[in-house]
Amino acid sequence: MAEATSHEILSFSHEGRVFPPPPEFQKKAHIRSLEEYRALYAEAANDPDAFWGARAREELYWKTPFHTVLDWKPPHAQWFLGGTTNLCYNALDRHLPKYAEKTAILFEGEPGDVRKITYRQLHADVCRLANGLKSLGVKKGDRVGIYLPMVPEAAVAMLACARIGAVHSVVFGGFSSEAVRERMNDAGAKVLLTADGGWRKGGVVPLKANVDAALPHMPSVEKVVVLQRTKNPIQLGPKDVAWEKLVEAQSPTCEPEWVDSEHPLFILYTSGSTGKPKGVLHTTAGYAVYVSLTTRWVFDLKDDDVYWCTADVGWVTGHSYVVYGPLMNHATSFLYEGAPTTPGPDRFWDNIERHKVTILYTAPTAIRAFMRTGDEHPKKHDMRSLRLLGTVGEPINPEAWMWYRDVIGGGRCPIVDTWWQTETGGILVSPLPGATPTKPGSATLPLPGIFLKVLGKDGKEVPPGQGGKLFLAKPWPALLRTVYGDPERYVKTYFSEVPGLYFTGDGARIDADGYLWVMGRVDDVVNVAGHRLGTAEVESALVSEGRVAEAAVVGRPDELKGTALVAFVTLKKGVESSAELKAQLSAHVIKEIGAIARPDEIRFADALPKTRSGKIMRRLLRDVAAGVRTTGDTTTLEDLNVLAKLRGDEE
Ligand code: WTA
Repeated sequence: MAEATSHEILSFSHEGRVFPPPPEFQKKAHIRSLEEYRALYAEAANDPDAFWGARAREELYWKTPFHTVLDWKPPHAQWFLGGTTNLCYNALDRHLPKYAEKTAILFEGEPGDVRKITYRQLHADVCRLANGLKSLGVKKGDRVGIYLPMVPEAAVAMLACARIGAVHSVVFGGFSSEAVRERMNDAGAKVLLTADGGWRKGGVVPLKANVDAALPHMPSVEKVVVLQRTKNPIQLGPKDVAWEKLVEAQSPTCEPEWVDSEHPLFILYTSGSTGKPKGVLHTTAGYAVYVSLTTRWVFDLKDDDVYWCTADVGWVTGHSYVVYGPLMNHATSFLYEGAPTTPGPDRFWDNIERHKVTILYTAPTAIRAFMRTGDEHPKKHDMRSLRLLGTVGEPINPEAWMWYRDVIGGGRCPIVDTWWQTETGGILVSPLPGATPTKPGSATLPLPGIFLKVLGKDGKEVPPGQGGKLFLAKPWPALLRTVYGDPERYVKTYFSEVPGLYFTGDGARIDADGYLWVMGRVDDVVNVAGHRLGTAEVESALVSEGRVAEAAVVGRPDELKGTALVAFVTLKKGVESSAELKAQLSAHVIKEIGAIARPDEIRFADALPKTRSGKIMRRLLRDVAAGVRTTGDTTTLEDLNVLAKLRGDEE
C-alpha cells in the first residue's frame, strides 16, 4: 500500500492517513495538481461570471448563445439567460460524427442478458420514442412519469423527454403503488412509462401491477406506455400502449426542441423533514453544464473507460452520473439491472471482471455489506481493469474506505468520496483524482465555484475542526430552481435558516486543511442505507394504518446501513400491542412507501415524551433508540419521563 511520505503531506495537518494522488493521475488526469485546482478555485471565486460563462461555452452546444451568465436575486438564480440548447442533443447528436459506433450503454440484466447500445443506436431509439411520445400528445413542458427497472429504456425515456422539452419525473422502481400515485398527481403527469416488471433477486418486481392499482387515482395520466421486460403476464387496459408498438412505426430521427436555458428538465421527488416528498425541479442548461463538467473532473473519464455507477436511475445519482454526465462526455456507461447478491455475493465483481469496468461508483452501505460477506468473493475475480473508485450517498467510515481501497482497488485506485444532494444536481465536494490528497472518511475539498460555510448555533462561522451546520454561500449552475408547485417551500426549506445562504440539512466540520467531514443530517431526514427518507413520511404512513394514535420515527446508528429506523408508536384506545401488529404495521409502511422505509424496530409506548409546548422530544427518543436496551416490547412513559428529567430536556 502506497502510504504518503512526509514530504508529500507537508502542508497537511496529518489528521489520520493521507493518500496522495497516484502518479499516473498526476500525469494524465484532467486536473493534475493541487496548484491547478487552487488556480481554478481562485478563478471561480474572483470572477464567477467569467468562470461559469467560459465553462458553459466549452461544455455545451448552444443553438443560441446566452447573453447573461447569472441573474441572482437571492434565493432565486437563473443561469445562462438568452441561451437555447437541448440536453439530448448534447448527450447524443453532438457525438455522432466521431463516436457513432462507440458503446454508449453497456447493459447487463440480472438474468445475464447483455446488450451493447452504440451512440448511433441510442440516438435512433431515443428519436423513435420521442416521436412516439409526441404521437400521444406530449408537448413541450408536459410532465412524463418514468417507473421502470434499471434497463436501457429508462435512459432512453429520460433522453426522449429532454429531446422534446417534456419534463420527466422518474420514480424509483422500489417505490410502492401509493408512492407512484402521490408523485404522478403532484407532477400532473400526462403519460407514464413503465414495464411489465424488472428482475430483482431472481424475482419480478411487479411495476405494471403497481401502476394498475394507482391508475384510477391518477386523473392526469392519459396514457401508460408498457415495456415488455420480463415474461410477467400482464393485460393491457384502455389507457395502455405497448412500448414496442408505439415505437416500431416511428422515424429514427426527431428534430430536438431547442429550449431556453431555464426550461424545466426534470422533477425528482426527495424526502424532506416535513410532510410529503418534495418535487425538486432542475432546469436545462445550468444542470447540463455542471453535470457534464463534474463528471469529467471527478471521474477523469477517458475514451476507453468502462464506467459503472451502480445507482438506480430513480435517484439523482442515476440521473446525473449514470445517464446525463457520462453521455455528455461520450463515455460508455454500464447499467446493471439487478441485485448485488444474485446469483451469488460476487455478482458485482463478476460484472467488473467480465466487462472490464475501469471506474466504479457506489454507496458506502454496499461496501460495508460486501466487507461483511468476506474478502474471498472479490478475491476470486480479476479486477485489475479498475483504476478509479467512487462513493456517494452517506458518510463512509474509514474502515470501509480502507477496505474499498485495498481489497477492491488493489491499493492502486484513488477513491473519490463525493458529497452532494438531489437539490445540488451534481457533486459539490470531492477529491479530484489527479490533484487532491485523500483522507479516509473525508469528502475533501469543494469543487471550483462551490463555497462552504459551517455555522454554529449562534450563526457565526465555527473555527476549523468544530462541528456545525453546513451551508453554501453562492449559487452554482445546478442548484435546484424550486420545489415544484410549492415555491414557498423552496424558500422555507433552503434559504430561511440563514437568509441568502443555501442550507444543506447536513452537519459537518471542516478541518485545518479545509477538508470537509460530513457528519450526517441535522434535520428530520434520515439516510438509511444511502436512501433518503423523511421521518415524517414514515410517521404518517404508520398513523394511516388506522390503529396507531401517534408515531415518532427516529434514526439509530447502524453499522451496516449507516442509520436504522426506529418507530415509537402509541396505539388507539382498546388496541392491544402484539408481535403480529408490529408485522402488520411494517407491511403497511411498505405498502405506503416501499420496502426501503420498513422500520428496523417498532416499539410500543404508553405515550410519547413531549415538551411543555407539546413537541415530541425527538432528541430523547434518538438517545433511547441508540442506547437504552429494553427487554420488553413496551417503553413506558415513566421510563421516558425519568430520562427527560435526568437530562432536563426542553427541545
Ligand atoms: C448524504 C445523494 C456524506 C448527505 C447524492 C446529503 C453524503 C444526502 C455524501 C443527500 C457523502 C451524500 N458523504 N454524506 N459523500 N453524499 N450524503 O439527496 O446527508 O439522496 O444531504 O443525494 O446524502 O441525499 P440525496
